[in-house]
Amino acid sequence: MGLLILFLLTYTALPLATPDPNDEACLTQLSQTLKDPLNNLQNWTKSTFANPCSGFTSYLTGATCNNGRIYKLSLTNLSLQGSISPFLSNCTNLQSLDLSSNSISGPIPQDLQYLVNLAALNLSSNRLEGEIPRQLMLCAYLNVIDLHDNLLTGEIPQELGLLARLSAFDVSNNKLSGPIPESLGNRSGNLPRFNSTSFQGNKGLYGYPLPPMKSKGLSVLAIVGIGLGSGLASLVFSFTGVCIWLKITEEKMAAEEGKMSQYMSDY
Ligand SMILES: *[C@@H]1O[C@H](CO)[C@@H](O)[C@H](O)[C@H]1NC(C)=O
Ligand SMILES: *[C@@H]1O[C@H](CO)[C@@H](O)[C@H](O)[C@H]1NC(C)=O
Ligand SMILES: *[C@@H]1O[C@H](CO)[C@@H](O)[C@H](O)[C@H]1NC(C)=O
Ligand SMILES: *[C@@H]1O[C@H](CO)[C@@H](O)[C@H](O)[C@H]1NC(C)=O
Ligand SMILES: *[C@@H]1O[C@H](CO)[C@@H](O)[C@H](O)[C@H]1NC(C)=O
Ligand SMILES: *[C@@H]1O[C@H](CO)[C@@H](O)[C@H](O)[C@H]1NC(C)=O
Repeated sequence: MGLLILFLLTYTALPLATPDPNDEACLTQLSQTLKDPLNNLQNWTKSTFANPCSGFTSYLTGATCNNGRIYKLSLTNLSLQGSISPFLSNCTNLQSLDLSSNSISGPIPQDLQYLVNLAALNLSSNRLEGEIPRQLMLCAYLNVIDLHDNLLTGEIPQELGLLARLSAFDVSNNKLSGPIPESLGNRSGNLPRFNSTSFQGNKGLYGYPLPPMKSKGLSVLAIVGIGLGSGLASLVFSFTGVCIWLKITEEKMAAEEGKMSQYMSDY
């Protein structure tokens, strides 16, 4: 009954939805930091930012509206450059942010932590650099974090393992380093697990589920090999030594014998 009332309230309130100043700030700022050399975002204009949604209808390429607010932004494969504005966090109803397959550079803004409704974050295949913000752990509804194919550095924040709903996590092909947090590499209980595919292609990253790194020291096999080898070598060496000694003594004896026979012949 309560749910029904809530439902009715939400939907009867719909026609009253007014343009949201936060969404306007978000879109205005984002359009300033992103560069659009192919002019793929032709209708991303100031006049549209003031009123990007009417109920469920969006007037912007890549934006989806719900109840007069932007709840989905999907700008993939549009040759976008530039960087991600921290003011993107003003789109507070955003549930899905997909900027994948562009050439966007700069950092992942820490301010994305204020997108408390965010469920899917796909920034894969760009040129993003800097560290993965540990503050993303505050986006409690996140179930997709896809950051593969970027230039991200530093360690994977172990706090991300606290995201209980996380069911897709991909940071492969970056420049990450350090240990894979157990909270992500070896998740406990019924939490969805991530295999090596999620972590591969990062030179400095190590730990389960990645295969063990080639050890810099000597492997057991090498040590055994060297032991056997040197044993054999010393055997061969001492054998030759003995042979030479025998040969020399033989020659000495032969020479002695020769002398003897010389002396003998004198007699
Ligand atoms: C903006 O562009 C998208 C697709 O390019 C189109 O669906 C939408 O109707 C356009 N909006 C306006 C207001 O022109
Ligand atoms: C990306 O865009 C280019 C050019 O518009 C197109 O040729 C290509 O098929 C697109 N790729 C994907 C995966 O959609
Ligand atoms: C918009 O986002 C910026 C950066 O996160 C923040 O400083 C500012 O307070 C936000 N504005 C509003 C109205 O929420
Ligand atoms: C993220 O976007 C890429 C390219 O658009 C897509 O291939 C990939 O499946 C997406 N990731 C997830 C987890 O949906
Ligand atoms: C993974 O976690 C389990 C249970 O906590 C533990 O027994 C196991 O040793 C861990 N595996 C690795 C490779 O760390
Ligand atoms: C990792 O898991 C994905 C599905 O989540 C699967 O497609 C892939 O084959 C797995 N890779 C390895 C190396 O196990």
